[in-house]
Amino acid sequence: MKTVRTKKSLSRLSRSWHEAGQSVALVPTMGYLHEGHLSLVRLARKKADRVVVSVFVNPTQFGPNEDFAKYPRDEKRDFALLAAEGVDAVFAPTPQEMYGADATVRVVESSLSKTMCGAFRPIHFSGVMTVVLKLFNASRCDVAVFGEKDAQQLSVIRRMVRDLDVPVKIVGAPLVREADGLARSSRNVYLSEGERARALSLSAGLDKAREDWLRGNESAARAVATVRKAIGKKADKIDYVVAVDPDTLEPVAKLERGTLVAVAAWFGSTRLIDNHFLRR
Ligand code: PAJ
Repeated sequence: MKTVRTKKSLSRLSRSWHEAGQSVALVPTMGYLHEGHLSLVRLARKKADRVVVSVFVNPTQFGPNEDFAKYPRDEKRDFALLAAEGVDAVFAPTPQEMYGADATVRVVESSLSKTMCGAFRPIHFSGVMTVVLKLFNASRCDVAVFGEKDAQQLSVIRRMVRDLDVPVKIVGAPLVREADGLARSSRNVYLSEGERARALSLSAGLDKAREDWLRGNESAARAVATVRKAIGKKADKIDYVVAVDPDTLEPVAKLERGTLVAVAAWFGSTRLIDNHFLRR
């Protein structure tokens, strides 16, 4: 596995692969890798001849009072995990390499990125889209894989690619959970034992809403109430519980196959997200 630190050397590497007739898949991450990330890498290997994983804690997607400085990092462990997966290259730039000191352009989206997490994290998706577009450009990837764990992020990136004619195929990958149902997240390390136990209410509530739907409930309002009730006082604060169309992220009244039921809530000082796409 090659370790690449500059955008220029990544572009050069990708160009050499393309010249040899090979396609390139990119898996963007912020590192501190877990099974969720690795499932994306495995899917990427099925989608292209070469796989690049980026490990970059992107400063522009963190708000001023968010956890950029304390976001967990362990480059050595990440690189060992990626090498074991047969990844061709890991791209791990510094913030200075990624962003020019006088950069003034950002990607802005005016609808999908304003609801759900966007309502609580106003600059977040602009930072995500900007870094993802820059990573696409540096890696010249043909395909990029994103997790359904971050369902809104996936929708926003699909919209960016559609509206800016970005020549990259976006592939979504299923959400990976711990054995007890907690959605895997790099931020789970912040949770105390008690907070972690309370956080299981998220997946429990979503499971219950899905079971109700399987038994015939078509009311989105009822699904939202079910999730809220399951979380109850277990969360310290609920940012939102919604049932939305996955393409527009607009609330639906009637649940359908594919409807996204999503939640964001706080356990102590940790904000967690979880979701279900309703499927049989
Ligand atoms: P990060 O949170 O590290 O996640 C990287 C990718 O892994 C995302 O596509 C995310 O959806 C996916 N992922 C995380 N946990 C997952 C799980 N439990 N199951 C399935 N997939 C999971 O998302 C980001 O980084 C950043 O915003 C990024 C896109 C890299 C831009 O900076």
